[in-house]
Amino acid sequence: MSASEPDVLGVRVDFSAGAIAARLRRGEGRGGALARAVGVKPGRAPAVVDATAGLGRDALLLASLGCEVTLIERVGVVQAALAAAICEARAAADAMLAEAAARMRLVRGDAIDLLAGMAPHTVLLDPMHPERGNSALVKLPMRQLRAAVGDDEDKAALIAAALAAASHRVVLKWPAKVPLPRGVPVPGYSIGGRTTRFDVFVR
Ligand SMILES: C[S@@+](CC[C@H](N)C(=O)[O-])C[C@H]1O[C@@H](n2cnc3c(N)ncnc32)[C@H](O)[C@@H]1O
Repeated sequence: MSASEPDVLGVRVDFSAGAIAARLRRGEGRGGALARAVGVKPGRAPAVVDATAGLGRDALLLASLGCEVTLIERVGVVQAALAAAICEARAAADAMLAEAAARMRLVRGDAIDLLAGMAPHTVLLDPMHPERGNSALVKLPMRQLRAAVGDDEDKAALIAAALAAASHRVVLKWPAKVPLPRGVPVPGYSIGGRTTRFDVFVR
């Protein structure tokens, strides 16, 4: 691989740099679509199981709003990158980052098997989205993640497991213009963005 060619196989997570750090500093989570979908309100931050942890960005935003977040990840290289990033963030000089990371707990395994035993209040799901036609538009960290984890072909089983386990709500992050996987029920409501929407299933 040449020096100019990005390493698409490496998965790295650093909460103190790049886009996620900037989003955190801007306080972007508060009042945003993710927070509203999960049900964060002033003085109310539900416990969330993020059953598709990935690069941990959604989990970090929710933790920065006061949610206790349990992150489930099933792919080893992603688990290792996340565990290191959470550990580093807990020791960060940035108090906001350290406090948010202290609310994040990583669980290694497949959420389809684990969710029923966790009795979750709210479950957030963000399985790999169907590939876009023009993959050049996809940012490098997501390309690296897809190279490591594949396409999450068992999304429908994961959504069914979350709907069976959650006591209050399931939030599914999904591309705005793509139909839901076959067999997934119609959500109660959706909170839309230009490219991504949050489908909310209230139990
Ligand atoms: C699109 S990424 C999630 C990105 C994440 N929301 C973020 O903010 O960085 C999907 C991740 O979910 C994981 N995943 C998918 N299905 C899973 C399952 N059944 N159990 C655990 N992890 C799963 C994949 O390995 C991948 O790392």
